[in-house]
Amino acid sequence: MTGGYTFRRPFESDHARIVRQVDDWWGGRRLHDLLPRLWFQHFTGTSWIVEDGSGAPVAFLVGFISPDHPYEAYIHMVGVNPNRRRSGLAGQLYERFIADVASRGVRRVHAITWPGNRISVGFHTAMGFVPSAGPGTQNLYGTVAYPDYDYPGEDRVAFTKDVGSTSAGG
Ligand SMILES: CC(C)(COP(=O)(O)OP(=O)(O)OC[C@H]1O[C@@H](n2cnc3c(N)ncnc32)[C@H](O)[C@@H]1OP(=O)(O)O)[C@@H](O)C(=O)NCCC(=O)NCCS
Repeated sequence: MTGGYTFRRPFESDHARIVRQVDDWWGGRRLHDLLPRLWFQHFTGTSWIVEDGSGAPVAFLVGFISPDHPYEAYIHMVGVNPNRRRSGLAGQLYERFIADVASRGVRRVHAITWPGNRISVGFHTAMGFVPSAGPGTQNLYGTVAYPDYDYPGEDRVAFTKDVGSTSAGG
């Protein structure tokens, strides 16, 4: 337990109570489609849930080590109850995820966000993530981002952070 919060691995049975909240936690955006049950079935070993003293979920992170690129990991979603923000919960989730995957050989972590989500952009920047500036990027909402990244009109910032040892082979 940290500061009255319990950090633990999610179970499949957590899915229903998390997915019910994500649209509210994302300010009314329709985000629950991005969190199907499969995240709580097949990615629990690298994901986290945070509960308060009453057992209510207050934050979660779902992510994984890339099957194609085992030295890379990807954070799919992180969310914190709006009433519990700015107390370091998401930062702690990122630190735990990075420590986990770095101990398993990962050297680069990826996270994608919408450039108009200024809070997410600010959070990732504060956590030491850097927007990729590859071919096709533009300045969108003040951040280097890929227009139409996932679908026409679906712009994204592709954040990366180098982590762990650079001395291992591979
Ligand atoms: C983004 C989000 C996960 C951050 O969670 P959080 O627990 O409040 O973040 P932390 O308290 O760990 O913040 C760490 C640092 O990030 C930055 N940050 C976080 N929220 C910020 C905000 N609203 N404005 C500016 N910077 C912010 C700050 O530098 C902060 O450090 P500080 O509080 O010491 O200044 C949370 O706002 C959220 O759930 N948003 C909706 C979901 C979302 O957009 N998720 C990200 C895309 S998947």
